[in-house]
Amino acid sequence: MFNLKRQPQRQLHRRLQKNRIMTSTILFAVFVVIIISSDGFGVTKFGDMVFDDKAGSMKKAGVTPAVFPHSKHEELYKCDICHPKIFKDKRGANDITMQKNIDGKFCGSADCHNSEKAFPLYHCNKCHAANK
Ligand code: HEC
Ligand code: HEC
Repeated sequence: MFNLKRQPQRQLHRRLQKNRIMTSTILFAVFVVIIISSDGFGVTKFGDMVFDDKAGSMKKAGVTPAVFPHSKHEELYKCDICHPKIFKDKRGANDITMQKNIDGKFCGSADCHNSEKAFPLYHCNKCHAANK
């Protein structure tokens, strides 16, 4: 009989405990997601970046803004192949022009889009592929 009186308290206690387990599970999941998506694990995956700082001159030349598939390059190369030697790792921090590309900088750096490893610089529309 005395059990009846204690029952609700016990249920409450159990529910509280369940809640606590839930909360720690959620916190743990959030923690795992943060760790996995951090740079330390090399799974940055920025996706496609559109370069349109020079939109005016690109329009004049009859090409659309350039699309840089960052994640695809991440899959192929280590971060330090590009950062910081070829590209500063900050959006908009690199003043990229075709003259510089042709002169062996940025996209036209050694072993990049001026070599056997990648399509050449005269395939304009492969890079200038925004809005297509
Ligand atoms: C093939 C060259 C290349 C490789 C490899 C590469 N990146 Fe980048 N990354 C770029 C370019 C280009 C940009 C854009 C810079 C700009 O906007 O001027 C960029 C931008 C960034 C930015 C700035 C993002 C922002 O929103 O400001 C970060 C951070 C970054 N990269 C980190 C990485 C990390 C980490 C890796 C490796 C997992 C990596 N990059 C691999 C070329 C590369
Ligand atoms: C490997 C990629 C790539 C290829 C191939 C490429 N471009 Fe570009 N181009 C870029 C990037 C990146 C920019 C910088 C865009 C920005 O920051 O606004 C750029 C900028 C430009 C600009 C504006 C800046 C300037 O130099 O006047 C013009 C015009 C241009 N490209 C024309 C061309 C033409 C024409 C071709 C083909 C002969 C070509 N591009 C091939 C990546 C490429």
